[in-house]
Amino acid sequence: MSTSKPNRQFFSRLQAKLLVIVVPIFLLISAASVTIFELSAFVDNKVKLQDKLEHVTQTFRYVVSEPLWNVDIERLNSILEAIAIDPDFVSATVYDDDHIIFAKITKYNEYALSTLSSRQPITLASATDQKDVIIGELLITFSDRRLLTTTYQRIGRASALALVFVIVLTGTSLIIHQRLIGTPLQLMLDIIQSPSDKTYGLRVEWSSNDEIGEVATAFNRMLNTNERIKDELEVRVENRTRHLGEQITKRKHIEFKLKGSIKQAEAANRAKSEFLANMSHELRTPMNAIIGFSSSIQEETFGPLENKKYKEYIDDIHASGIHLLDLINDILDLSKVESSALDLFIEPIDIDAVTKTVLRLTRPHAQQKNITLESQMNGLAQKFCGDKRRIKQILLNLLSNAIKFTNPGGSVKLDGSVTQDKSLILIVSDTGIGMDADELEIAVTPFGQVDSSLTRKYDGTGLGLPLTKALVELHGGHMNIDSLKGYGTTINIRFPPGRVVKDQA
Ligand SMILES: Nc1ncnc2c1ncn2[C@@H]1O[C@H](COP(=O)(O)OP(=O)(O)O)[C@@H](O)[C@H]1O
Ligand SMILES: [Mg+2]
Repeated sequence: MSTSKPNRQFFSRLQAKLLVIVVPIFLLISAASVTIFELSAFVDNKVKLQDKLEHVTQTFRYVVSEPLWNVDIERLNSILEAIAIDPDFVSATVYDDDHIIFAKITKYNEYALSTLSSRQPITLASATDQKDVIIGELLITFSDRRLLTTTYQRIGRASALALVFVIVLTGTSLIIHQRLIGTPLQLMLDIIQSPSDKTYGLRVEWSSNDEIGEVATAFNRMLNTNERIKDELEVRVENRTRHLGEQITKRKHIEFKLKGSIKQAEAANRAKSEFLANMSHELRTPMNAIIGFSSSIQEETFGPLENKKYKEYIDDIHASGIHLLDLINDILDLSKVESSALDLFIEPIDIDAVTKTVLRLTRPHAQQKNITLESQMNGLAQKFCGDKRRIKQILLNLLSNAIKFTNPGGSVKLDGSVTQDKSLILIVSDTGIGMDADELEIAVTPFGQVDSSLTRKYDGTGLGLPLTKALVELHGGHMNIDSLKGYGTTINIRFPPGRVVKDQA
């Protein structure tokens, strides 16, 4: 009837554990109580046996008195034989008044047994004074052997009964336990131990109005909850997967579109660069003609200009031409930087010579405005790897700004040095009009000019500073502007180590 798995050992089962404790205790207690009960019964029965012995002795001392008096041994013996019929009898002895054995009958070896004895006088009524005269003695001994045997037998029978009782009780309790606890537990265990994909919809078929019934109901409820959660999760995972799939499709679509846009933008940028290059070429040719011819007219190469007004006009035409050419060049450079099309021509250059050229080019303008132009160079007897034309352009832009935005009487300085870690540092400082933080931000944006009103004092395009910054960064350097409104501006350029090389000369 057991539904347990064959691999479950008998002694590892709950019932077995209970039985191992209960059965010995029960057997011990019942054996002890039967023994105590039977021993006390034995003691009682022994007292009763003694009473019986006294009674028999009392009765027979009268019966034997007459044959003893008449010395009728035959009758005495037959009387003693009658006493010996008693199942507990061991021996009976008749003594005469001199305490000599007159008659005796023995059934067992009286000394080998535990015996009870009773000794009483044999009397005869005196014919003369009616008084009893002692003429002998009767001694009867009984054995408790029969009593003891009975007691042992009863203990044995009771123990056997207790054993049978225990076996029946054990069997019954095993069956009841199995019916009430083992079976439902096994049903639950079967579900718990089977693989999770095979238990779907399985329930413990058990109902009882006890704790096990409650456990089974709770177990089924737990299975319900688990399955519901699993179902919900599956639906969620499915939804999420679908959602992710949709998102991936969308992303791919966007990516596809983006790639298209990038291609378009790249094409547009290429078109812009080409357009600018063409444009500047187309514009530069006529500009060079304008500048060249106006220059020869200014110098009156082919004869004098009669009217003074013409001289003024031709000066204006020449200056405007140069300005326009500068503007075209700056726009071209900046657009090249933006489309990463500006290539540097790197070579070892003599930084000292470059600064001298730049100072020579800007000095006339400074003198014109009565501005002192100073320069201090430290340790520049070394070559710097860079684009000579661009370095010159950087310094020209900064120095011309400094002179332009400094009032007469002020001063402009160009300092240079090589640090110990072989970084080249160039500093352009002036005592000019300076800028506040907001103006500084405008100054570094392309076409940004602090004073952009129509009536502005300073000419220019607003391309110099952003272009300068871009050129410095193309060389791997860094430009920092420090300015204080009303006090002046200091622009600090640092090229990282690695560009300064030993003088080859
Ligand atoms: N040394 C300076 N002192 C004061 N302001 C300056 C200085 N350098 C540049 N700026 C400001 O930054 C603006 C942008 O300079 P820049 O890009 O060189 O353009 P531009 O010189 O053509 O005006 C200038 O218009 C000016 O307002
Ligand atoms: Mg400028």
